[in-house]
Amino acid sequence: MHNTRKVTEDIIWLGASDRRISLFENVYPVPEGMSYNNYLILDDKTALMDGIDDAVSTQFFENLEYALSGRTLDYFIVQHMEPDHCACIPQLVSMYPDLKIVATAKAIQMIQQFFGIDVSDWAVTVKEGDELKLGSHVLEFVTAPMVHWPEVIVTYDRTTGALFSADAFGSFGALSGNIFADEVDWERDVADEARRYYVNIVGKYGAQSSALLSKAKNLDIKMLLPLHGYIWRKDLYQIIGRYAKWASYTPEVDSVAIFYGSVYGNTANAADVLAIKLAELGVRDVKVFDTSKTHPSELVSRAFQYGTLVFASSTYNAEIFDTMHTLLVDLKNHNLCNRTVGLIENGSWAPVTARKMREILETMKGMEIVEPVVTLKSSLSTDSYETLNNLAKVLSDNID
Ligand code: FEO
Repeated sequence: MHNTRKVTEDIIWLGASDRRISLFENVYPVPEGMSYNNYLILDDKTALMDGIDDAVSTQFFENLEYALSGRTLDYFIVQHMEPDHCACIPQLVSMYPDLKIVATAKAIQMIQQFFGIDVSDWAVTVKEGDELKLGSHVLEFVTAPMVHWPEVIVTYDRTTGALFSADAFGSFGALSGNIFADEVDWERDVADEARRYYVNIVGKYGAQSSALLSKAKNLDIKMLLPLHGYIWRKDLYQIIGRYAKWASYTPEVDSVAIFYGSVYGNTANAADVLAIKLAELGVRDVKVFDTSKTHPSELVSRAFQYGTLVFASSTYNAEIFDTMHTLLVDLKNHNLCNRTVGLIENGSWAPVTARKMREILETMKGMEIVEPVVTLKSSLSTDSYETLNNLAKVLSDNID
């Protein structure tokens, strides 16, 4: 049975949720599932914004047929040619032989690459500022390269002020009937997953995300309609303000997140002792994470959230402990920058992790490594406990 909602009188949401999926992009855990949104505009011409993932395509086609009510589909606008939105292109082309595919030249090329079909006879190639008149709706295309792939466009509807924003402003998590952010407690239930989604999917491309935000400032946006997660029709600053922070690598929380990689618990103990010392010095909202337990996507998200980061690692195979190494490489790959950093190393006979962690951190922009570095030989001693106390004081003095 169809499963659609009206966004306005003539913009229809046709999304579908996948609650069976374990790993989005086969890497990010999505315990609350994943939603895929599509939007159909019913004007003199009909236009569909993006397709769907294979996993939920049956629901999508049922919704599309219902929403069209016997009309044909005139335009299929490919804002983003990633298969979680476009797996259905071959089927759409065969169902609607007069369909026009509206996309950038790069997206058209990607359709050929992914599906081995030449859609040039169906293609309407668009670039920055091009328009498409559907009747009363006039759509303007805005390029958004690397948010999240190079071919991406977002689409501004001059008639309603709706910005169809592709991957931008989305979130992990299935939808449950409530498709608008103002229908749920977004801050309480969604904000953390929206950050984890942004940071891991687009976080590397802060400059490009900032460029999109700058373009958006010139548009009178009344609604944000992403391809994942909730539609924004109220309090748009709530999500746009967060994106401004995330895209500029500005922390949300002026406090300390401590990440440890520990074999027998002694490095973990140092992390917990540091957290207690920070708390006693008045630092609020301190967080401690075990890099062997918490998924890297959550750790990276928390590193974007916090202004001060402490990395505490055992020495393992004369290297950084594996899960800590994964985290540091992930942070570098996501271009995290401008953080205050403390280091704790442990090694029973040859501790090397402070040096090796520093080597990675020094390849990242604006990572200020503070002294003292704490060295444990197997476990905290009177001397290393004192050094840890000193590190706590330096870190707390750095926090407003
Ligand atoms: Fe939702 Fe980049 O695909």
